[in-house]
Amino acid sequence: MALLFDKQTSRWLLQGKNVSYGLGVDQNGTLKHLYFGSKLPFVSDLPDVNTAIHHSSFEPSGGILQQEYPAWGGMYYYEPCLKATFSDQVRDTRLVYKEHRINEGAQSDELVIVLKDTHYPLLVHLHYRLFPEHDIIERHAVIENIGQDAITLEQALSGTWHAPRGDRYRLTHLAGKWIEETQIYQDEITPGKKTIESKRGNTGVQANPWFAIDRGTADEDQGEIWFGALGWSGNWKITVEYNPFKLLQVSGGVHDFDFSWHLEGGKSFQTPVFSGGYTRGGFGQASRNFHQYQREHVLPKPIADGVRPVLYNSWEATYFDVNEQGQTALAEKAAAIGVELFVIDDGWFGERHHDRAGLGDWTVNPEKFPNGLKPLIDKVESLGMKFGIWVEPEMVNPDSELYRNHPDWVYHFPNRPRTESRNQLVLNVGKPEVQAFMFESLDKLLSENSIYFVKWDMNRSFSEPGWLDAPKEIQKEIWVRHAQGLYDIIARLREKHPHVAFEACSGGGARIDLGIMRLTDEVWTSDNTDPYDRLYIQEGYSLAYNAQAMMCWVADSAKWVKNRPTPVAYRFHSSMMGSLGIGGNLTQWSEEDLEESRHWIAEYKLIRHIVQKGNQYRLLSPRAGNTTAVQYVSHDQTESVLFALKYPQKFGNPSPKVYLRGLKEDALYNVTDIEEPVSGSALMFRGIDLNLYDDNASKMIKINEVKA
Ligand code: DGJ
Repeated sequence: MALLFDKQTSRWLLQGKNVSYGLGVDQNGTLKHLYFGSKLPFVSDLPDVNTAIHHSSFEPSGGILQQEYPAWGGMYYYEPCLKATFSDQVRDTRLVYKEHRINEGAQSDELVIVLKDTHYPLLVHLHYRLFPEHDIIERHAVIENIGQDAITLEQALSGTWHAPRGDRYRLTHLAGKWIEETQIYQDEITPGKKTIESKRGNTGVQANPWFAIDRGTADEDQGEIWFGALGWSGNWKITVEYNPFKLLQVSGGVHDFDFSWHLEGGKSFQTPVFSGGYTRGGFGQASRNFHQYQREHVLPKPIADGVRPVLYNSWEATYFDVNEQGQTALAEKAAAIGVELFVIDDGWFGERHHDRAGLGDWTVNPEKFPNGLKPLIDKVESLGMKFGIWVEPEMVNPDSELYRNHPDWVYHFPNRPRTESRNQLVLNVGKPEVQAFMFESLDKLLSENSIYFVKWDMNRSFSEPGWLDAPKEIQKEIWVRHAQGLYDIIARLREKHPHVAFEACSGGGARIDLGIMRLTDEVWTSDNTDPYDRLYIQEGYSLAYNAQAMMCWVADSAKWVKNRPTPVAYRFHSSMMGSLGIGGNLTQWSEEDLEESRHWIAEYKLIRHIVQKGNQYRLLSPRAGNTTAVQYVSHDQTESVLFALKYPQKFGNPSPKVYLRGLKEDALYNVTDIEEPVSGSALMFRGIDLNLYDDNASKMIKINEVKA
């Protein structure tokens, strides 16, 4: 990381490829934000750290200062990052600069600025790690109690981002519901505060922990964008606050709702990572920078370096009716069309004949698999595929051996019902004995069977979050301890079984965030596998997250939306824009459809490195018209692939035209459907006609540089 520091004026400038981030200490010792935007060459380009807005005696300056990590204390009224109560019941925190250091890292150096309370033994270590090639900064805070007496943290966010003082700002964010995940919303920002959040225990579908800010005029190709995402899979919040002085701040981290953390003497609390970026290249460049950062620095290595295999998942084919014979029949069909990883979903364990029983009993059901999983796994392997399995380890059905033996292992309150959702309760993952059980059951499963893939599901939000046998002062820590326990268990399983890839799933796409992506190789995007609906879901997802981690199944025609059948090619083209999976009941597919599927899977294998690893360009949005077009370009710009899908044809409109992106202007490219090679300039500026005329027409266009 290029880091410039001017000792005399106490200012730092972090330098990315195209971005600078400046901060400094003012005469009162306050750590102030100075700049986040297009690259500035010199520290002296930063504003004077002591300039301040002075309004009137009615407006305390604390709120007008852009503080890097504001604590609640004095006359500070905006969103604080830190709110603490000291042992003498003082609830006012004053942070000033203490020192800074550089931690040298293999991938990137880290600036750590240490703040201290002016009186109490409290330190806050602010970590900044900049990835210059992606113009992305990771921030987190470590709050340390260096005294003897405990300090109670009531709010401990990861950090606050600031935009320059500006007249007009717009927020873009992702929201939705089950089967309508990651929909794009854009709102003008007016004075006041908007919070996107989850208080459900998991990341949630109602909002996703990603945001983007622009000046109201940015589009895919141009405009300043400040954006970021939280790496956290428990309760979270991101607050966007704009004040009458035209200052905009975005604060985020672990949700303070029903939260407190008992920070004992000598202990630290580490916040989740809040990753942020800036670009002048519009939403498209913001996404591409973020995608590449995720592939290189977030997704787990070394699996992330490879491409994701083509997967088959049996959920929509058999639901809970899983058995050796039925799965073998599906495996044979899957192998014949080119699938590389065969995954059995819910229903293989305990008394799991429906969603009312069995969760928690992670032993193979002997009626369904009389000789265990081995015969099926052997069959799958003999067909040339790897085997994967579904689990939901954080949950229990009351009708299970686990619950009968350990009714106290779930979150609950006395005098209150244990509210069931999908007939299940949430295990208290904060409890060491629950963690031990989860790890041991999964370790056993992975050790005794040749398993290469785990789909880790989580199918309900929390309720009655009680843990009454824990000391009183840590009871509100469950929200954080649950996510920490989850991360720790997956990390230990990965360490012991490094060949196993993981998929995060939560009743569809309720666990899509950068925290889980550090531990899982892919995420389940949505239970909605309708190829048209998916275009919207996948577009929203792609604003924030990379295509490699986005699992997309080809399902049976008209599976989710009755009376909306779609051709095989259309379903494939929709799913080939991410990590390809097949989720239909292949035993019901016609020979022609299977043959066509075999063709598209073979095609996908030829281009998947471009889709999964390349730069993504959203050329036509499903929100804007009746055609979606998404292009992927390899980093060396020699290969590209474009997917275009139309639905429905309207008003006799002509076939849409697209202007490609990301190619070399002077290079010649061969393009599917075009006889003569054409230049990158022609493809980008003259454009190409998609020749899509009918409802459900779709195509994949390959663009390859002519080799000299
Ligand atoms: C919800 C998931 O999103 C589905 O894909 C499937 O795995 C079911 N759970 C199984 O119960």
